[in-house]
Amino acid sequence: MGLPNVFCMNGGSDEFSYAQNSTLQSIIVSQTRAIREDAATEFYSTFFPESMMIAELGCSSGPNSLFSALGIKEAVEHKCIQLRRSPPEFHLLLNDLPSNDFNTIFRSLPCFNKQQMLSTEKPVKCRGELFVSGVPGSFYGRLLPSRSLHFVHSSSSLHWLSQVPPELLDGQYLNKGKIYISKMSPAIVAEAYLMQFQRDFSLFLKSRGKEIVTGGHMVLTFMGRSRGSDPSSLEYSYPWELLGDALTQMASEGIVEEGKIDGFNAPYFSPSVEEVKQEIEGEGSFSIRTLDLFEAHWDEVRGSKPCNIYDYKSMAGDGAGISHAKQMAKGVRAVVETMMRSHFGEGIMDELFLRYTELLEDYYSRNKAQVTNIVIALTKI
Ligand SMILES: C[S@@+](CC[C@H](N)C(=O)[O-])C[C@H]1O[C@@H](n2cnc3c(N)ncnc32)[C@H](O)[C@@H]1O
Repeated sequence: MGLPNVFCMNGGSDEFSYAQNSTLQSIIVSQTRAIREDAATEFYSTFFPESMMIAELGCSSGPNSLFSALGIKEAVEHKCIQLRRSPPEFHLLLNDLPSNDFNTIFRSLPCFNKQQMLSTEKPVKCRGELFVSGVPGSFYGRLLPSRSLHFVHSSSSLHWLSQVPPELLDGQYLNKGKIYISKMSPAIVAEAYLMQFQRDFSLFLKSRGKEIVTGGHMVLTFMGRSRGSDPSSLEYSYPWELLGDALTQMASEGIVEEGKIDGFNAPYFSPSVEEVKQEIEGEGSFSIRTLDLFEAHWDEVRGSKPCNIYDYKSMAGDGAGISHAKQMAKGVRAVVETMMRSHFGEGIMDELFLRYTELLEDYYSRNKAQVTNIVIALTKI
């Protein structure tokens, strides 16, 4: 089954929503701020567009959906003040799969606009108008007209594949007892995942290559690995390995069918820096400005809250008194619950994530509470 049918973040703004549990992703967005804003201001001061078309791909629904675009807008407005120019208009295109909770973002816009008015001391003439539209669809394919975009941003989204590699579903279960690449998986499993990533990422680049104007920029951040690293290394695979372990425990107690685990593989892949570089160079639409690896650590949580555009009593990310393991488990639940529920059934979710939290507590007692990311800044040739 293709990803669009079973995949969406938990919508709304309740305890298990993505909006309330996307703190780690907000740390990642904050860590890449300078790269994004440098690229945007460089584009603006080279081409001076009257209207700047920005796309946020895999926007989801939560405080991060608008955060990057807001930073880009402010950075460009600041540049305009330095250059004594009127600011451009900004058109923000929010993309995600059609199943995404776009309504929650759109409902938050009046509050967001009001916050912007209050938080800036810039005179009105130094502020560009912001127009927001939704673009539902898969970013593994065309979303927008040719040469219509100036700046594309995507964070914490491109590690999601368009589908589980079909080679894993070929009549027999190749990754028995595991739900992602593991030390126990036969070599063909990692090969199948890499091939699916290569097909998807080159299609992504080809599609954006048509949509972005020459000289336009794209900044992408997603889970990744260091050069030459083993994808089954726990350092990269622990979120899935431990979720698989929680399911295995439950299978051993008869709560989950073993065959259900054999038949589930995560539509996810964290590529290495050279695997990413090879695809960009092979596809040929973009030149590389930046290609870096960085760690997002749970310790960064406090103070990294991006922007409270939702009317929450307590916003995601405060994390007061909550262990890193609990926060991570809630974050992962907000992302994978819909998909896990459709495969394993709704009844096991609370138990599954309780056990997952315990396994994460143990893992973080011996290892750093962090995830590795790749950030790439590209220019359309
Ligand atoms: C973990 S969320 C990240 C959301 C947001 N960018 C952030 O940083 O918090 C990943 C998002 O990517 C979206 N996504 C995954 N595959 C996609 C695809 N093929 N096309 C568009 N969106 C996709 C998911 O629906 C989800 O909303």
